[in-house]
Amino acid sequence: MSTSTPAVKITLLGSTGSIGVSTLDVVNQHPQQFEITALTANTNVKKLLIQCQQFNPRYAVMVDVDAAEQLKKQLHQTHPDIIVLGGAEALVQVASLPEIDVVMAAIVGGAGLLPTLAAAQHGKRVLLANKEALVMSGQLFMQAVTENQAELLPIDSEHNAIFQCMPSVYFDKTQAHTLQQVGVTHILLTASGGPFRTYNLEQLQRVTPEQACAHPNWQMGRKISVDSATMMNKGLEVIEACWLFATTPAKIEVVLHPQSVIHSMVAYTDGSVLAQLGNPDMRTPIAHALAYPQRMSSGVTPLDLVKIGRLDFEAVDLTKFPCLRLAYEAMQVGGTATVILNAANEIAVQAFLDKQLRFVEIAAVIEATLAAMTQHEFIDLNTILAEDALARQTARDIIATNYRG
Ligand SMILES: NC(=O)c1ccc[n+]([C@@H]2O[C@H](COP(=O)([O-])OP(=O)(O)OC[C@H]3O[C@@H](n4cnc5c(N)ncnc54)[C@H](OP(=O)(O)O)[C@@H]3O)[C@@H](O)[C@H]2O)c1
Repeated sequence: MSTSTPAVKITLLGSTGSIGVSTLDVVNQHPQQFEITALTANTNVKKLLIQCQQFNPRYAVMVDVDAAEQLKKQLHQTHPDIIVLGGAEALVQVASLPEIDVVMAAIVGGAGLLPTLAAAQHGKRVLLANKEALVMSGQLFMQAVTENQAELLPIDSEHNAIFQCMPSVYFDKTQAHTLQQVGVTHILLTASGGPFRTYNLEQLQRVTPEQACAHPNWQMGRKISVDSATMMNKGLEVIEACWLFATTPAKIEVVLHPQSVIHSMVAYTDGSVLAQLGNPDMRTPIAHALAYPQRMSSGVTPLDLVKIGRLDFEAVDLTKFPCLRLAYEAMQVGGTATVILNAANEIAVQAFLDKQLRFVEIAAVIEATLAAMTQHEFIDLNTILAEDALARQTARDIIATNYRG
């Protein structure tokens, strides 16, 4: 990228999280090329204050309005020009600003849906980490991307790897292609297996939130860490891949790869399998998407294959990880099934983190929520939001009735 071109302006949704911090680290390495226009958080005043002082954005948003007031007071002395906004609607506002080029969607969970969708509706380059938004609104979201000439680049390391291994003609919007037409037979989505890959069903009964959040290879937020431990994260990724790459669950094979060096692969009709490799550090896909179609440094340590020594692969045991099965089934059913799956998962994971639910009961709550609700085929935004709210309440009721006390 030439330094004489104007800086790319970024809204960073979820700046205080794990992806948010990694994004700021990459941006900080390329200050001439990128400018932070807006930073957002939910409640973490302390961290957002430090980020505002370092990156001096035009806007700072806190969803929690009391937190926004606190931030405003603390910024008033030193940075009176930063506009501090409070409330969830302000996320949509900063994701839609006419002056911004890129929206990094790094809010965790369904809370990211509306601002991420707004970014697509305003034709931005959307860097998608918030997989839950796509799981909830896949069809609507992909339609918004196409209709508004937005650009969607995956940040999830697996999807970013698949994107890099696909033939570029597949993403040429002037021509419609199927995977078969570009010679792709299927996608191999790699999974580390999380911290409990080698546990048996008996051991899984007793695992704690602390153990579940200690991922062997990746540093991540608590929700995605639990999702990785249950393998719901892989399930959400299967759904995400179906939408991003216009394919079906049958064309996506999950392969356990404990070293997390191969981030995913694409298999071709001539027997070739293309893989993307790298150290497990989210700054690689973030730098890839920020610089795309060019390349730039990310600060990630170069891969030393001799030091790694070996790369292993295993099949997934779905009896140990039923969340992955539930995600495949929900995507096959389609319609609102994935909305319900996602909502029930968020409630169950939070209950597990709050020690109200055991690890193995997460899948049971999701399955019971799916069974208790009627699934609808037609999905518009109002249906998605209503079904999401209903599924959350249903999951809470199931936990309160069957699992607490
Ligand atoms: N971490 C990874 O390596 C990784 C890899 C691939 C994909 N992803 C995906 O990226 C997304 C973010 O993950 P993460 O690990 O970075 O999460 P995280 O560390 O938990 O950070 C979440 C961010 O979202 C904000 N947030 C939380 N609840 C919110 C709400 N209700 N409304 C608005 N903002 C809210 C948080 O603000 P506060 O700090 O104020 O709470 C924080 O900035 C997830 O969808 C995850 O699946 C993450």
